[in-house]
Amino acid sequence: MCGIIGYTGPRACKGLLLDGLERLEYRGYDSTGIVLLEEDGLVRDRTTGKVAELRALVGANHSSARLGMGHTRWATHGGVEDRNAHPFLSNDGRLAVLMNGIFENYVDLRAEVAAAGHELSSETDTEALVHLLSEVYDGDLVEAVRRVYPRLEGHFAFLVMAADEPERIVAARHAWPPLVVGRGDGETFIASFLPAFLEQTRQVQYVVEDEVVDVSPSGARFWPMAGGPAIEREIEEADASIEVAEKGGYETFMLKEIYEQPTAIADTIGERYRNGALHLDGIGLSDSELASVNRVLIVGCGTALHAGLVGRYLIEEWAGIATEADVASEWRYRNPVFDPSTLVLAISQSGETADTLAAMQLARERGAKVVVITNVMGSAATRAADGVLYTRAGLEIGVASTKCFTAQVTLLTLLALRLAQLRWRLSPEQVSAIGSELARLPELAQRVLDDPALEAKVDMIARRFAHDRFFLFLGRHIGFPICLEGALKLKEISYIPTDAYPGGEMKHGPIALLSDDTPVVAVATDSHVFEKMISNIQEVRARKAHVIAIATEGNDAIAIHADHVLYVPRTIEELQPVLAVIPLQLIAYRIARTLGLDVDRPRNLAKTVTVE
Ligand code: M6R
Repeated sequence: MCGIIGYTGPRACKGLLLDGLERLEYRGYDSTGIVLLEEDGLVRDRTTGKVAELRALVGANHSSARLGMGHTRWATHGGVEDRNAHPFLSNDGRLAVLMNGIFENYVDLRAEVAAAGHELSSETDTEALVHLLSEVYDGDLVEAVRRVYPRLEGHFAFLVMAADEPERIVAARHAWPPLVVGRGDGETFIASFLPAFLEQTRQVQYVVEDEVVDVSPSGARFWPMAGGPAIEREIEEADASIEVAEKGGYETFMLKEIYEQPTAIADTIGERYRNGALHLDGIGLSDSELASVNRVLIVGCGTALHAGLVGRYLIEEWAGIATEADVASEWRYRNPVFDPSTLVLAISQSGETADTLAAMQLARERGAKVVVITNVMGSAATRAADGVLYTRAGLEIGVASTKCFTAQVTLLTLLALRLAQLRWRLSPEQVSAIGSELARLPELAQRVLDDPALEAKVDMIARRFAHDRFFLFLGRHIGFPICLEGALKLKEISYIPTDAYPGGEMKHGPIALLSDDTPVVAVATDSHVFEKMISNIQEVRARKAHVIAIATEGNDAIAIHADHVLYVPRTIEELQPVLAVIPLQLIAYRIARTLGLDVDRPRNLAKTVTVE
């Protein structure tokens, strides 16, 4: 999704802005641009390429500009063309605007500014804003933003600067797109996301919805958009460091994050489980409220939803609570039926996913308690929930989510155990036994990652199957969401079509896809449905397709059923997903690399989807 950075201060800022844009590249984008206040006015450059191309375009010439803004665009309104790239300038070239989000009433706004005589040079919603501002601007950007703001509908965060106000950027946001101010020594940054300026300062102030923010070298001032006294805003120390935004010796962020999973799992468990005692601080519900939950509805998108599907099995199995997991964007539009005794559990790595936030809002409006599982402190989802459970995976930069998935499943495991404990569905001995096994997960995950035999097999599988036209993933019970996740990983970074099916469902359609050039990845770890899974594998082999099985260490018998077997350590059936998904992540990764693809920035995808 779009990335934003602005700077005002004593330094020449061209390089700072370009560096900041590079730090935002991981979020996914298709074009980029920059505007600088040079001696003779605003100078803008933009391109439908990478930030490196923008850097080449603006050239190495000295720029004395000390005020500027930069943008990475992920196209929504208007195609991927130079003319649709931000920033946008007013027709007189005195104002510049850039935005993350959507103006839903852009058709009316564009028509209005066109009728008022402004020449529109793009197909975007954002351009309407710069023309609206130029209608009312008389030397005070804060005032101009205040006057135009009530006209804007949708969800957005924008920055504005003017040639006549050489030290000022004015900003505002509505709904979920975030903005954060970075306070330096006599200089100030403002950006959509921390990594954009983390190398320069860790002193931050978060922008709240519907405020007008006046950014100058001495800091930022915040006022309610509707008027009233200035708002005091605490300066916080950012909890992320620039090191975590670096690759730390790995060839890509995704690979680094795959290898960070043992730590992410260990940190997510942290002090939450100790010798049979579970502490889920921040959950926002009392023990008696938790014990009386009679239904759990899990909502999320993509990988977060897959984690939720694993959670569904765990909560039903251990706590005996009816649980559903649904796509946030579907759930919110289908008049879902629930009452205040339902716990709505939202899962979102970023805490900024528009559809998940909208589902949370709906749930709260209808009186349900909402708890969110997220990885990002202070994200929009944390403000929209009754309670927050943080995964502690550290900043995830790879667009394909890996460590946050295993951290989410870990946290769901803790939650399911806690619900079971409060409802007396598991004895203290059972809770202790599961807890001890959970505590071993980081070490077991490390064994998967350190296994040279597994690594060699993954490489061989990547070389052997990278050019195949389709992959089918099959699993049963708790192994099925792992297949969904494996199939998503492979398709999003390798662009190979994939499908994931419950093993028993294959004969109802997808079996027609099988032939002697179809790789089928079967999650067949030891479980109460293992024999059923073997029958499904046989059905695959009878169609001469190639079986790549994920199996439990020590299960030698599976070798006669599969062409290739990747072993993961033995643990209890309910915890197996966290281990079984790792080989699937590695297969997807190696195939994409074999194909020479950019796994950290897959085409068309954004790390955080802040539009519906
Ligand atoms: O930030 P969220 O967890 O809400 O994001 C949800 C999905 O957009 C995300 O999981 C997406 O599917 C990833 N690209 C998966 O790798």
